Amino acid sequence: MKFQVPRGTRDILPGEVERWQWMEERTRAILALYGYREVRTPIFESTDLFVRSVGEATDIVRKELYTFQDRKGRSLTLRPEGTAPLVRSYLENAPLRQESISRLYYMGPMFRYERPQAGRYRQFWQIGAELLGSAKPEADAEMIDLFRSILSDVGVRDATVLVNSLGDSVCRPRYREAIRAYFETCAEALCEDCKERLTTNPLRILDCKVPSCAPLIQGAPSVLESLCEACAEHFEGVKQALAQLGIGYEAAPRLVRGLDYYTRTVFEIQVQSLGAQNAVGGGGRYDELVKDFGGPRTPAVGVSIGMERLLWAAGESATQPAPGPDVCVIALTPDAAIEAQRLARKLRGQDEAPEKRGSLRVMVDVAGKSSSAQMKWASKLMARWAVFVPRAADGYAIRDMAAGKDGPKQPTEEDLRRHILGLRDSMVAPR
Ligand code: HAM
Repeated sequence: MKFQVPRGTRDILPGEVERWQWMEERTRAILALYGYREVRTPIFESTDLFVRSVGEATDIVRKELYTFQDRKGRSLTLRPEGTAPLVRSYLENAPLRQESISRLYYMGPMFRYERPQAGRYRQFWQIGAELLGSAKPEADAEMIDLFRSILSDVGVRDATVLVNSLGDSVCRPRYREAIRAYFETCAEALCEDCKERLTTNPLRILDCKVPSCAPLIQGAPSVLESLCEACAEHFEGVKQALAQLGIGYEAAPRLVRGLDYYTRTVFEIQVQSLGAQNAVGGGGRYDELVKDFGGPRTPAVGVSIGMERLLWAAGESATQPAPGPDVCVIALTPDAAIEAQRLARKLRGQDEAPEKRGSLRVMVDVAGKSSSAQMKWASKLMARWAVFVPRAADGYAIRDMAAGKDGPKQPTEEDLRRHILGLRDSMVAPR
């Protein structure tokens, strides 16, 4: 029987995985610069957590959850996003609430049963940052600035920041009504999904990508006309902060998002070269969510970046060469195989304290290849040195494969290690 990777998922293989590791390291480094600390939450949570936060009427909850029952009949769901789990964890773990402001981040796979296409998967990775405890526009600006810093650090240049405000529980219902009333006048012309949204979630019509809905959306009332004074002032504050930080943005009065927990600011960063799935990440403010989960009123703002799209947008700048071995230990006779392994351990410094190891990458054949096949294998791996066992009466033999020269005569194990480490370190370009 032949198995295949499930639809909408993929394997990340050596060659590509180095780009992922590089991207993870870069983003972790930026998050640390801004003072964010990592939280790792489970991959599944109780289904209710997402229904209550993402929203019953959203596509994510209605059509895209991976939900299952465990053996005790509990309904669990593979997380479709990271904000709700993080807020749950924030409320459950007092250390996360020690300061009045908490800056937290997460990184990991998310699951949505979507129609797969380029840049859209059923398992995808997100890097998300959440700032809990501030209602100030400066917090929104920090989040957008952080997002932009990650993008520019990994080499994404053609990014556009779109910003909008969706109002709060005071003014949003007014806007929802205005939108419903407007689209009711042209309901017949809406696509089937939007006809349904008219009753379930009218604001989502603004996000419809069906071409026949586009001209109707163009004529819809702008949210900005419905914002209450406090929300309008907050939105002005965010725009001013962005301008003062020198962050270019476009006000996008029709930007809505696919999750229901947002209040006030929402934003997205688009990279045009990504085509249809051009949102590399997005986020916004969710001032009611902590309270909805039973906690004290805690304003918050956050962002998530899609890792696959980020890598795609970063393109060549995220290319990382896969490191080959420094040394291959070649067993000259079949009975020297274990001796080759012992020497390989020694050269890696595995018996040394970690800080003295020196990180030599050393590989050894375990397939029982002939010595000439081992040499071919070492050249294919582009190993810099070959060391031969068993040692002859006059000591080990070492060959610099790149220079095509034999190394020092009669080296001991220690001499070999020192010789290779000395040359390897002198080859490393100074930083
Ligand atoms: P979201 O817009 O649903 O927001 O997802 C954020 C990003 O995840 C998207 O911009 C995209 O890059 C990536 N993404 C989403 N779905 C897929 C998919 N099927 N395949 C590949 N990439 C995908 C959230 O998830 C919110 N939790 C963001 C947030 C954080 N809001 C406040 N804090």
